[in-house]
Amino acid sequence: MKKLILVAGARPNFMKIAPLMHALKGNSSIQAVLVHTGQHYDVKMSGQFFEELNIPAPDINLEVGSASHAVQTARIMEGFEKVCLDEKPDFVLVVGDVNSTAACTMVAAKLNIKTIHYEAGLRSRDRTMPEEINRLVTDAITDVFLTTSVDADENLLKEGIPAEKIHMVGNLMIDSLVANQYKASQTALQFQLLNRNQNIAFGNDFTENNYGVMTFHRPSNVDDKESLTQLVKIWGEVSNKIPLVFPVHPRTYKNIQSFGLQELINNFSQLYFIEPLGYLQFIHLVQHAKFALTDSGGIQEETTYMNIPCLTVRPNTERPVTIWEGSNKLIKIEDILSEVELILHGKGKTGKTPNYWDGKTASRIVEIIENL
Ligand code: UD1
Repeated sequence: MKKLILVAGARPNFMKIAPLMHALKGNSSIQAVLVHTGQHYDVKMSGQFFEELNIPAPDINLEVGSASHAVQTARIMEGFEKVCLDEKPDFVLVVGDVNSTAACTMVAAKLNIKTIHYEAGLRSRDRTMPEEINRLVTDAITDVFLTTSVDADENLLKEGIPAEKIHMVGNLMIDSLVANQYKASQTALQFQLLNRNQNIAFGNDFTENNYGVMTFHRPSNVDDKESLTQLVKIWGEVSNKIPLVFPVHPRTYKNIQSFGLQELINNFSQLYFIEPLGYLQFIHLVQHAKFALTDSGGIQEETTYMNIPCLTVRPNTERPVTIWEGSNKLIKIEDILSEVELILHGKGKTGKTPNYWDGKTASRIVEIIENL
């Protein structure tokens, strides 16, 4: 029996790890050990995803919590080295591009443990993004490259990775979506507004195909007072045309408070700021939305699968397949309003589902690991 450690750290990791844990259950040749680094730690960013996606409780939790990049990465490395020395795994599998991904790959590689990176080869070519540094570090030293799309394969081949180490497996996030879309559609969409004594409900304050769903948390958009103020004003203008529902990431919420922007937000009666949502409610919210307005990575993929127009407010994306084939469009802050107008006039972008985004990625990955 081979021992495989799977690493999960931050919110976008959990929907990728869930289908793998399910596919590995009862496997007679692979013993799975789940390590949570604790990079995300509260119920809203972590706990409820384990519950809703039926992920077994982690075997080990490093409980590193929030800190600067260097401190958080160092804490993960220190904790994970002990885990590897105790557990002596044959393989370590990491997903995505967060600090936990790069930190655990470095630890395993130095202990000569074979590493597997799911979501290898994605490149934004923007080294100001911490995620791009994590992708480059991880792919420089990992042994097995599992990819979601052809552009990732091409990037890796150009970087000199031998073709036999690269496996196009499809998209684990879409596995979670396929498995949960019905259940998601059955969850209630009723929320309390943040900092306002008011509740909103689907079918009443925002209705089918007549609202936008929004997420923003990239440091480049929300850590700078000027850029966040400009964004709040534009969100307000958009919300005068169509309700905007915004489950607010803790980073963004903290900055809104410290830059004194809450009062400005309160001026817009259809700009709905709510707590971060669990997986099922969030997917349900996207299912009925007219469009998504975001700077997230994963939402570009989920909207492409659901064929819902997605406006991504970033100068680049590491997921270009969502643009060539999907319903995603990269836009500038100053173009948000005109792009929303286009969608409201029925000119939103539509697309098709990329290859292998079919809900069967986890079983393809298990087969590859069985043959390593
Ligand atoms: C991290 C990832 C990013 C991913 C995002 C999804 C890195 C470098 N970044 O960014 O790629 O898209 O997660 O959410 O790994 N906080 C809480 N509760 C939590 C976790 C965080 O309140 O459970 C607060 C922290 O105190 C901090 C802020 O949220 O102030 C940001 O958290 P952090 O983990 O530093 O980075 P993210 O912006 O979430």
